Amino acid sequence: MHHASWVETYAPLLPADHWRLDTLQRRTETWRRCLTGEGAVTVAEVAGTVVGIAFADVGRRVGERAPVRDRELYLLYVLAAHHGTGVGQALLDVVVLPRHVPAQVWVAEHNPRARRFYERNDLLPDGARAPDEHLGLAVARHVR
Ligand SMILES: CC(C)(COP(=O)(O)OP(=O)(O)OC[C@H]1O[C@@H](n2cnc3c(N)ncnc32)[C@H](O)[C@@H]1OP(=O)(O)O)[C@@H](O)C(=O)NCCC(=O)NCCS
Repeated sequence: MHHASWVETYAPLLPADHWRLDTLQRRTETWRRCLTGEGAVTVAEVAGTVVGIAFADVGRRVGERAPVRDRELYLLYVLAAHHGTGVGQALLDVVVLPRHVPAQVWVAEHNPRARRFYERNDLLPDGARAPDEHLGLAVARHVR
């Protein structure tokens, strides 16, 4: 589901050869490693099927972009068929709850829907931008 949403989100923004390496198999391996550790992710299910996934954490991992907030939303992906249904909001509320808590998220600059969604949740662009090495796209920081 994460890979499917990832492709839906970034295929319009990335060259076709990006997907030679960014594969379902690679993501499956990454998740297999992550889920055998201590981390916990939150998923949203509709009729027993996972349609969304979210992960936030407190404290930056070593070697990543410098934080301005302790709490960071690392991951929020909902299948396009479930956009606009409240699934994304429910996931955000669970992982960065309560709504006034300071937090930050990096989001692709050319992802207007997600950026609008974060702005509605008082996560506002603070002007910082950086290249995202995995995606090969510029990302912008939104901060509350
Ligand atoms: C980000 C995400 C979780 C938001 O959930 P959602 O259900 O789509 O969000 P909503 O429909 O509640 O809100 C989206 C907002 O963007 C607006 N919007 C929709 N399409 C838009 C577009 N092309 N340009 C600008 N705004 C847009 C909506 O009108 C709404 O704003 P409003 O509340 O002011 O009306 C979901 O879109 C998603 O998973 N996207 C794909 C993955 C992704 O981009 N994740 C973020 C990675 S950092």
